[in-house]
Amino acid sequence: MAKVLVTGGAGFIGSHIVESLLAEGYEPVIVDIMRTGNRTFVPAGVVLYETDISASNLEEVFEKEKPIYAIHLAAQVDVASSLKDPVGDAGTNIVGTIRLLDCCRKFNVKKIVYSSSCAVYGDAEQDGGGITEDFPIRPLTFYGISKFSPELYIRAYQQLYGLAFTIFRYANVYGPRQTPKGEGGVVPIFIGKLSLGDTPVIYGDGEQTRDFVYVKDVAAANLLALRKGDNEIFNIGCSRPTSVNRLYELISSLLEVHVPPLYYPKRSGDITDSLLNHSKAKQQLGWTPGYDLQAGLRETIDYFRAIQQVL
Ligand SMILES: NC(=O)c1ccc[n+]([C@@H]2O[C@H](COP(=O)([O-])OP(=O)(O)OC[C@H]3O[C@@H](n4cnc5c(N)ncnc54)[C@H](O)[C@@H]3O)[C@@H](O)[C@H]2O)c1
Repeated sequence: MAKVLVTGGAGFIGSHIVESLLAEGYEPVIVDIMRTGNRTFVPAGVVLYETDISASNLEEVFEKEKPIYAIHLAAQVDVASSLKDPVGDAGTNIVGTIRLLDCCRKFNVKKIVYSSSCAVYGDAEQDGGGITEDFPIRPLTFYGISKFSPELYIRAYQQLYGLAFTIFRYANVYGPRQTPKGEGGVVPIFIGKLSLGDTPVIYGDGEQTRDFVYVKDVAAANLLALRKGDNEIFNIGCSRPTSVNRLYELISSLLEVHVPPLYYPKRSGDITDSLLNHSKAKQQLGWTPGYDLQAGLRETIDYFRAIQQVL
């Protein structure tokens, strides 16, 4: 059973990856400082180290566990926090990744799979086909910069020390266990507010578009990367644009709550349109999204209803 160290494995996306690893016979081990992670997301029997990835004692985890693969999700994920505290943001996202890479090198990890973000592209000019991996890198926020810099370190570790990698740039991920903070938080915000009878806010006119991808499809991509896609970068999104107004309509009708949203001015750093072209992941990994937005939202709403956290 191959051991896989999952940083951020107690978080939203990480916990789905841990479940998929278990289902496919891998042995996941989690490193998570529990900043936004949740112990209840960790399946029974999975070892969890509450260690900061940027701290020197990360090495002790590697010494003890000797993982074969590392799937790296631990990050400061809140764009607004990156603007308030760029040093803290870089400390986790950049320095933390370097610390992890160094452990991977010292302990002969075979491959690292890194969760990057479409935030690295910034407000890219797009034709109908969406953003491909070779689009210019023009992050608009410190978060976008701190997600991209590790990509450069990862490439350098591959070139200098032969550490294989796969880098994923995700669109807006949504699904069960997501919290309103962080990227893509608009889905739990709308679900939470509409179910409580509050009026959600839309920044801008709501015609800005996003590419929403379901968390189980993201987990599936990470599992594929353990066997394929060495030293490549892949966009992971549905390649379908959905306006924020359309998302609002879909969630309202699934919840059967109809309240008009409040419109506030556009926030600085907000991207107008974001659509990822996933052809490369389809060709090289054999990955395609299995969930359309309606199906993913239905499962997400069922989850929130079941736990009565938001509803
Ligand atoms: N959710 C999205 O739409 C989205 C989009 C693009 C990229 N990503 C990336 O995917 C990854 C996972 O994001 P998520 O949405 O699951 O967020 P999340 O906040 O649920 O997960 C991040 C996890 O990292 C942990 N963590 C934070 N700082 C740490 C540190 N110093 N040491 C150890 N653990 C630490 C947190 O406790 C949390 O469990 C992140 O790297 C994020 O940048 C997410």
